[in-house]
Amino acid sequence: MPENIGTRPPIATVPAIMGKPTVPNDLTKPSGNANPGGGNAFSPRDWTQHPPYDHGPYRSTALRSPRQPLIPIKQALSNLTAPAFGDGSIDALDHDLTRNAVVNAAPLGERIIVTGRVLDEDGRPVRRSLVEIWQANAAGRYVHKVDQHDAPLDPNFFGAGRCLTDDDGRYRFVTIKPGAYPWRNHHNAWRPAHIHFSLFGHSFESRLVTQMYFPGDPLLPLDPIYNCTPDESARQRMISTFSIDRTEPEWALGYEFDIVLRGRNATPMEA
Ligand SMILES: [Fe+2]
Repeated sequence: MPENIGTRPPIATVPAIMGKPTVPNDLTKPSGNANPGGGNAFSPRDWTQHPPYDHGPYRSTALRSPRQPLIPIKQALSNLTAPAFGDGSIDALDHDLTRNAVVNAAPLGERIIVTGRVLDEDGRPVRRSLVEIWQANAAGRYVHKVDQHDAPLDPNFFGAGRCLTDDDGRYRFVTIKPGAYPWRNHHNAWRPAHIHFSLFGHSFESRLVTQMYFPGDPLLPLDPIYNCTPDESARQRMISTFSIDRTEPEWALGYEFDIVLRGRNATPMEA
């Protein structure tokens, strides 16, 4: 049982917070992971590493994928900015999903630690950057009116959290291992256990929304969302690694999940 179980209202929306935009001080020099003065500040996205907009086995992509050719737009200052967040934007329990929505007891399920580094395309840490997550509870149920899966809600678990990366680009969450859930995409369709991640990085060019999976999940080969990403090695970058070093004795298993925001080693976007 963790100490100091807190009681606070759950986070209202996910993703939830926006701040003032940041602008690099000197637009003629590289700054952070952007290079505003250098023309092509970012490598083009390699679409062999990301899911296509329309992926037949993932049926709903047919309803929301573009019907017209995409229109390239010139890179503008607005692409090179991002909301800025300070420590005041984050509450002390926002990173701990086992405590940030507690009403009267600890949430049910397997407590886990999920941690990793957020890196730019050159492997440099992305510092002081917002990381948001959301997930189902241990029974595979979201706190959402659309989710009518016949599984119990947990009154002590809301399933959303956020934190800032530190100077090494590292984030850390404490949460409950999410359960698999059915999603009616096809007969007997079940999503593998996963945690949704949303990241801003240092600019909107590095915006990433993705999903983290767990090693050895037997549902992964059957999941059209996971398999939307065409490249096998890219898919592997969405699977966390069990870490005995991140595991805390008598308390929680640890999983490591590094995230690369752009470049050839980029973590794939979710479909
Ligand atoms: Fe999900």
